Amino acid sequence: MKSLIIYGSQYGTTKAYATKLSEMTGIPCVSYENVADINDYEQIIYLGGLYAGGVKGLKNTFSLLKKSNIKTIVVTVGIADVSNKENTDKIKVSLEKQLGDDIYKNSLIFHLRGGIDYGKLNFMHKIMMKMVYHSLKNKPVESLTKDDKDLMETYNKTVDFVDYASLRQIVKAIQ
Ligand SMILES: Cc1cc2nc3c(=O)[nH]c(=O)nc-3n(C[C@H](O)[C@H](O)[C@H](O)COP(=O)(O)O)c2cc1C
Repeated sequence: MKSLIIYGSQYGTTKAYATKLSEMTGIPCVSYENVADINDYEQIIYLGGLYAGGVKGLKNTFSLLKKSNIKTIVVTVGIADVSNKENTDKIKVSLEKQLGDDIYKNSLIFHLRGGIDYGKLNFMHKIMMKMVYHSLKNKPVESLTKDDKDLMETYNKTVDFVDYASLRQIVKAIQ
């Protein structure tokens, strides 16, 4: 099957997963910024970092899709604990909105955990995370979700949850 791995990555964790997946499968990988056409492929594997629920580069890439017979696999990379169904359900709701009903229903979806180094965030991202942190800090502790608590605990730190073994499930799904 003629396949391509495409990634949308700001700080490198998604790129690292995509590069490893490319090594494991022999499928070439490329950043979404360098993709002009995807309709020549039979299978597209898209990996994107999560930013405020949105997946980096996803809309740009899937707006290029003109054929319905291309197999699509979508992989999100975020900081949230993806063993928690509440978290993955939230990501899926947002994915459906970004992909549209048809592509969402016809895609295989996976969620991986990335990492964050607050020292390396750009100005806008630092401000965004600061705002989220302070809004959570002002809420009653009982109202915070596990995800909120995780964010508060890791705020301003460096965390790395990248686990290449989690790519095996995706390798199995690739034809
Ligand atoms: C401004 C900002 C918003 C983020 N929003 C989310 C989010 O909504 N859900 C999530 O799980 N992770 C979120 N993250 C964490 C990133 O998805 C995580 O750092 C990921 O590994 C980034 O991928 P990249 O290194 O390929 O850019 C956010 C990070 C930043 C800086």
